[in-house]
Amino acid sequence: MEKRGQWGSRFTFILAAVGSAVGLGNAWRFPGLAAKHGGGTFLLVYLIAMVVMGIPLLMMEISISRKFRKGAIESMRGINKKAEFIGWAATSNAFVIVCYYAVVFAWVILMFVNSWQFAGMTGNSEKAAGLFFELSKTTGAIEGADIPGEVLLCTLVAWGLIFYCIRNGASSVSKVVKFTVFAPVILLLIMAVKGCTMSGAMDGLKVFFIPDFSALADPSLWVDAVGQVFYSLSIMMAIMFAYGSYLGDDANIAMDAVIIAFSDMAISVLSGIVMFSTMGGTGMLDKVTASGIATAFIVYPQAIVNLTNIGWLNAVFGAIFYLMLITLAIDSAFSIVEGVSAAVADKFHLKPKTVTISVCAICGLISLVFTTQAGLAWLDIVDNWTNQINLILIGILECIAIGWTFSLKKILAEVNRNTKKFKTPYWWFAYSIKFVSPVLLTALFVWNMIVLFGQNGGSYGGYPIWAQIVAGWIVSALVFVSGFIAKAVINKKKKDGFVEDEVVWKE
Ligand code: PHE
Repeated sequence: MEKRGQWGSRFTFILAAVGSAVGLGNAWRFPGLAAKHGGGTFLLVYLIAMVVMGIPLLMMEISISRKFRKGAIESMRGINKKAEFIGWAATSNAFVIVCYYAVVFAWVILMFVNSWQFAGMTGNSEKAAGLFFELSKTTGAIEGADIPGEVLLCTLVAWGLIFYCIRNGASSVSKVVKFTVFAPVILLLIMAVKGCTMSGAMDGLKVFFIPDFSALADPSLWVDAVGQVFYSLSIMMAIMFAYGSYLGDDANIAMDAVIIAFSDMAISVLSGIVMFSTMGGTGMLDKVTASGIATAFIVYPQAIVNLTNIGWLNAVFGAIFYLMLITLAIDSAFSIVEGVSAAVADKFHLKPKTVTISVCAICGLISLVFTTQAGLAWLDIVDNWTNQINLILIGILECIAIGWTFSLKKILAEVNRNTKKFKTPYWWFAYSIKFVSPVLLTALFVWNMIVLFGQNGGSYGGYPIWAQIVAGWIVSALVFVSGFIAKAVINKKKKDGFVEDEVVWKE
């Protein structure tokens, strides 16, 4: 057996985890949700959801995998043999997510290389709003299978970059995150200075920060906050299991998890400042929406061409914006691939590099679906099912398996192993994993079902039903049966001499 890769230092682990957590969701989902839910009120509820649910679950995943030194599948098997399928579900769901996340990443690259075009559009909002559709040729409807050459090229570049960053697992990730975590922060700061010095910026910042407490009465505020915490911290995606498994014995998990969660939130708030000051400054406050893709590709380009009267300067700000998104997206994208490949390599005793190449190749091929004219529509469907249904169900199952069939005392001892000042209290950890998180997630799931079936008659987004069945329900079903299919394959392999690892919690 090869020796398991490890992080270069405590700091690189924190950077890698922050890099995964901080992604496109921070830049375009968080500000949009804040706009929808009374600004400061959303920040407050998000903070509560992070403390009562996000941080304990983050500590839980990191500490379990550090103890077992295994990815998601084997770690869940170590918790309980019957729970292995949950690890498979998380891994399979991550596999699906990366197929489209890579294409969003490719679109961001596409916009970055074309940002010079903003120079000729000063003040022309309509033209700027259409640029993304003109370049990507995507229509938003399930129609058309052509793949534009430029998009294909950007997708290849995206996959090439992803593979390059994780080619040697933790050791190559350690090197790139030093750049990919700080670069977006610097770029965001530049944009915040530009935004905040525009007249009208204050109006935007007021919308973002001043709480409107009447928003608390709307249950969808709570639903969105819980969902955003979950999505943003990259938990239940096999990622934190993989990253935790590369930690050394001296890691201070309790403290690190708190640092990761608050850094993630800080960058969300910084993105919000950029978004709201810019929208206020360009008089577009009413255009901020909760839809991320629309914000980044349709709304923001309109702001770019209205930033100044100087065409080339606007183009420079456009390039900065999309470069910022590239550096935000890349470490999230490769973290998902790493989560999948670590889990599979550990399960089948394969060479990590071979698995990484295979995952990139297979996901790369599948991702071509999202590069077609129908790509945006497919992406919207798959994104809805993987995040609003699968992710939440996986969360519920994971909390129940770990909270109710394993000893939380043992896990907490692992969390607190190297802490001196700040020890995670048992009541916080246990209440969260056993009760609060599964209850909140179940409420979230029920809410999503009520919206889907009660309000929309079982149809999402107005797409043809066959497309929703294929890209939604069948994909979800596959995610949850993947563990059982794998079991059958493993049993067959056992007849040919394959021996499964014994995953035990050594005291
Ligand atoms: N946490 C990331 C974000 O906020 C999202 C992400 C999704 C990361 C999927 C990894 C995998 O954008």
